[in-house]
Amino acid sequence: MTGNHPESLMMSHGYEPSWSEYSVKPPLFLTSTFAFPNAEAGKHFFAVAYGKEAQREGEIQGLIYSRLNNPNLQILEERLAVWENADEAAVFESGMSAISTVFLAFLKPGDRLLLSNPVYGGTHHFAYHYLTSIGVHVTPFDATSDLEALGDALIASGEGAQVRVLHAETPANPTNAMVDLEGLNTLRRRLETTYGTSILYAVDNTYMGPIWQKPLEWGADLSVYSATKYLSGHSDLIAGAVVGSAEVLAAVKGLRTFIGNMASPFTCWLLTRSLETLSLRMAKQTENAQKVASFLQQHPAVERVYFPGLPEQGEHQNAVYRKQCSAPGAMISFDVRGGEAGAFGCLNALRHIKLAVSLGSNESLAQHPYHMTHADMPDAEKESLGLTAAMVRLSVGIEHPDDIIADLKQSLDPLL
Ligand SMILES: Cc1ncc(COP(=O)(O)O)c(C=O)c1O
Repeated sequence: MTGNHPESLMMSHGYEPSWSEYSVKPPLFLTSTFAFPNAEAGKHFFAVAYGKEAQREGEIQGLIYSRLNNPNLQILEERLAVWENADEAAVFESGMSAISTVFLAFLKPGDRLLLSNPVYGGTHHFAYHYLTSIGVHVTPFDATSDLEALGDALIASGEGAQVRVLHAETPANPTNAMVDLEGLNTLRRRLETTYGTSILYAVDNTYMGPIWQKPLEWGADLSVYSATKYLSGHSDLIAGAVVGSAEVLAAVKGLRTFIGNMASPFTCWLLTRSLETLSLRMAKQTENAQKVASFLQQHPAVERVYFPGLPEQGEHQNAVYRKQCSAPGAMISFDVRGGEAGAFGCLNALRHIKLAVSLGSNESLAQHPYHMTHADMPDAEKESLGLTAAMVRLSVGIEHPDDIIADLKQSLDPLL
């Protein structure tokens, strides 16, 4: 087989069976440290790792210590970069450690972070509680806002001069609101030109995975993931990842080495296995989600369905979806009649779908964002973004779609 599609490369890229007793699958390298052939080689490996010496032509970087490099980490990172045709990837012990490391690598006191709203509750907490406590300013912008008007306001107030990082989560957790990625790049370039600055543009692409949306193609410097979700797909690990250019990744990996929050060999081994089925899983989950969304849309106990491409998202949102996504993904939020009592009634009655946070896994999961994943966000802010106590967030799995729909039906019917 000579194909170079990502689906094919996930079976072989970055690993040769001859390296490990002809084992077809990469073994698990449970070692903290690696023996050097001699002192001169050890000196050279460190010099390359710390950027003091260039790698020699055709040389494979020497293995040193599993906080700096490990075969499981490297194979996984090489395969992950393939999905977005990127130079490099960096894998972390959680999605939050990927996000916080990116922020800490590019922001210092006095700088400003431009952050879309809503975002995952943990990202919200880190930005508004931790970053602000060390003197970083945070300016939120509504995912659906007019980006030209946002640029005008940032320039009029002078705040645009402080912007060093632009971070967007799209589709947003949990409302599925979409940020126009091309429009955001235009805003980034406008601020950079106006002030002669350099702004890092990162996109949390957890919801669409690298299959349905490719932020780097729209000008982003980094795609950021909670790899706990679709990249893993089995609810059996916590991990994070960033994908982008060698230059940006050098800064991110440099900080990761010293914070020491790289993923463990076992987590990497599990993720490498998961990437083999990423495309299959996401295709099936998305196919199921389209059927589930149509069912929810016509159920009288459901007031509104938030799912990319459905007419009720509005013309502008649908145009953004059509432009930058190749499929709607498998995350559905919906408002249940009867507010919080209705949403809780639905969640408590589910039999097959698990009542649990997290998403993107093989099994369907449902939760209540208002009081669970986004509990820490001020209530008024949640409500202004349409995140009400009536909302249920559903991550659609790979089960038979009829069973998912039957479970939802028996949980919603009693609310009528
Ligand atoms: C969109 C998004 N980004 C980031 C995270 C954080 O990832 P992790 O839980 O792996 O730290 C999550 C977690 O739910 C998420 O949904």
